[in-house]
Amino acid sequence: MDLTNSNLSSFDLIGKRVLLRVDFNIPIRDDEILNDERMVRALPTIEYLLEHAKSLRIITHRGRPQESGKIQPEFSVKPIAKRLSQLLDIPIPIANSLEDLDQATKIIMLENIRFFNGEKNNSKELARQLGKSSDIYIMDAFGTAHRKQASTFAVIDSISEAGVGFLVEDELKALKKILVNPEKPLIGIIGGSKISTKINVIDSLTSYVDKLIIGGALANTCYLAMGKNIGKSLFEEEYIEVAKKLTENNKIVLPENVVVLDTSNDSVLEKHIDNVENHEAICDVGRKSLDYFQKHISSAKTVFWNGPLGKFEDSRFSEGTSEVAKLMSQSSAYSIIGGGETITSFANINLMNSVNYASTAGGAFLEYIENKSLPCIDKIIKKNNG
Ligand code: 3PG
Repeated sequence: MDLTNSNLSSFDLIGKRVLLRVDFNIPIRDDEILNDERMVRALPTIEYLLEHAKSLRIITHRGRPQESGKIQPEFSVKPIAKRLSQLLDIPIPIANSLEDLDQATKIIMLENIRFFNGEKNNSKELARQLGKSSDIYIMDAFGTAHRKQASTFAVIDSISEAGVGFLVEDELKALKKILVNPEKPLIGIIGGSKISTKINVIDSLTSYVDKLIIGGALANTCYLAMGKNIGKSLFEEEYIEVAKKLTENNKIVLPENVVVLDTSNDSVLEKHIDNVENHEAICDVGRKSLDYFQKHISSAKTVFWNGPLGKFEDSRFSEGTSEVAKLMSQSSAYSIIGGGETITSFANINLMNSVNYASTAGGAFLEYIENKSLPCIDKIIKKNNG
């Protein structure tokens, strides 16, 4: 992706009113922010815009509320605006309506854009209203750049100028290291619960990685496709055929040793995949498999990872994920991680600084690896390059 005419520093911002789309969809519990990584990473763009532009209107989504036109307090951006105000040390007023967004303030944040009718279906009318009193649109919501929605996609046509922020630039630069002539061996690690959400990226990855380690519940569908008993483990019936094809690819590495929960007495034990019984559920990667993964990870020159390898939110099943995080941090390979849960597992064991790059995106990270393009960024590039 050639950002030459689309990056923030190529725009003259003097006297301009900027509409900035960020992805501040962050974990919040009872109004308490659990991780503000996505906000911190967007600060360089926000600070630059505050310094150079006339005014700044910030848009984000939070979660997946009903698009009812009404404010739903549990999805409000209030805690986000409060944190941004602390990070920047300036007040951040909130606009509850599109009309309020036009207030003549230096900076303002719109309530959750997903409250507004038309966001999800990429409405031109909502995009027109969003863009009407701005001179330039800046897209820095890398985590949402795969969603064709009014504030990420249609809006690009409703403002005369459009570009991308520093975070998008950084993300694309880092991901290029795994997509364009990566240093080999290139090892991918894909976890998570559903094979259905990852199958396209897995398919695309197998054409250029050297090995692809697969863990998490999505591996269970593969075991089943191989004729193994997975007892009470999660799996996706309609993906068994797809999983069968995958398991025939010799680049795919599946854990042979697993940690299971015995559902009859709630005990936890480690065993070979061939010995799983009907009343057991696979919940993590076993120790012997971790030793095997180490061989691949330590010989890699480039490694990337998305998705937990077990039910890591339960401490009895977090070892696989945290041990692979440690292996990755000890390796001398160029390392990239992506996805909220993967980042949380690195943050939980204080290893965030040991990877070369942590992408702020989950779905967009995978879609970019799969298609080597993202619709919202492509549209901006096209607008600037004709
Ligand atoms: C994410 O967290 O992956 C992004 O914010 C996109 O959210 P969405 O999957 O609800 O569109």
